[in-house]
Amino acid sequence: MDAKVLSSGVRYSDLPESYVRPESDRPRLSEVSECENVPVIDLGCPDRSHVVQQISLACINYGFFQVINHGVSKEAVEGMLEVAHGFFRLPLEEKMKLYSDDPSKTTRLSTSFNVKKESVHNWRDYLRLHCHPLHKYVPEWPSNPPPFKEIVSDYCVEVRELGYRLQELISESLGLEKDDIKKVLGEQGQHMAVNYYPPCPKPELTYGLPGHTDPNALTILLQDLQVAGLQVLKDGKWLAVNPHPDAFVINIGDQLQALSNGRYKSVWHRAIVNADKERMSVASFLCPYDHALISPAKPLTLDGCGAVYRDFTYAEYYGKFWSRNLDQQHCLELFKN
Ligand code: OGA
Ligand code: NI
Repeated sequence: MDAKVLSSGVRYSDLPESYVRPESDRPRLSEVSECENVPVIDLGCPDRSHVVQQISLACINYGFFQVINHGVSKEAVEGMLEVAHGFFRLPLEEKMKLYSDDPSKTTRLSTSFNVKKESVHNWRDYLRLHCHPLHKYVPEWPSNPPPFKEIVSDYCVEVRELGYRLQELISESLGLEKDDIKKVLGEQGQHMAVNYYPPCPKPELTYGLPGHTDPNALTILLQDLQVAGLQVLKDGKWLAVNPHPDAFVINIGDQLQALSNGRYKSVWHRAIVNADKERMSVASFLCPYDHALISPAKPLTLDGCGAVYRDFTYAEYYGKFWSRNLDQQHCLELFKN
């Protein structure tokens, strides 16, 4: 069988040419420093206005933050990571039943980012699932490992709750009513990318995921606790965000940047790979419903600058996003007024 995915059980001794980035576009790992002061926000803090203020500062200064005491149970998190590893350890034939390089498929195993369009590949396999409403999508999810559907469903429900809570806090942090952002986003879609980065023979020459911003509204990332790999761009420098036990990494997606009229930034981030160890991450994406009209909240356009971006529907945005390379210019630039 032609091994289309990296997680085929083959251990690569050299990096195939199609993964090698041109010299000008390599991770330059020796220049990356650790992000010492990633905001860690305690959602269990009883002083709501303090939490709102911390979120505001984190979104303005970083565009991402971590949350602890987030309400997602340890059991759900551990279960999720276990079935994720279980899935990628399945025999190749079993996994390949779900393989597709068509981004419109609602359940699929794929590799890199957009294999049919891109010129250089990324050292990543991923299982991408639509997750809401669950009853619509769970039947097409993997039935191996056997507890997959149940464990991932439970995880999705808990993460969605956390996402709503964060959107309420973010809404308030922009001076809006608690429900304003949720109202614009409507009945939100929820997608998941279970990312698997196998050990890579030449981590200096390639990426797991090159620098990108997330096209959705809000991303809730569960990082491998053992192996670091997430980096974010801050003030022109790439910084490593090392895993924090019991935390999720939250990042503002392009839609919240648009709704906040550019006040909050959808940050550039990337995943680098590791020579010795495999790495797993589970990204949950909350997305506006397809026909949601993304238009900045009125009070945020009254400071004299007007609306930074033109109004668009999420469906229009998403189509544009997948028609490009992941590391091209910020997709929102195409919607600037
Ligand atoms: C993503 C992403 C980062 C990581 O899936 O969009 O940015 O650490 N993942 O895997
Ligand atoms: Ni991302």
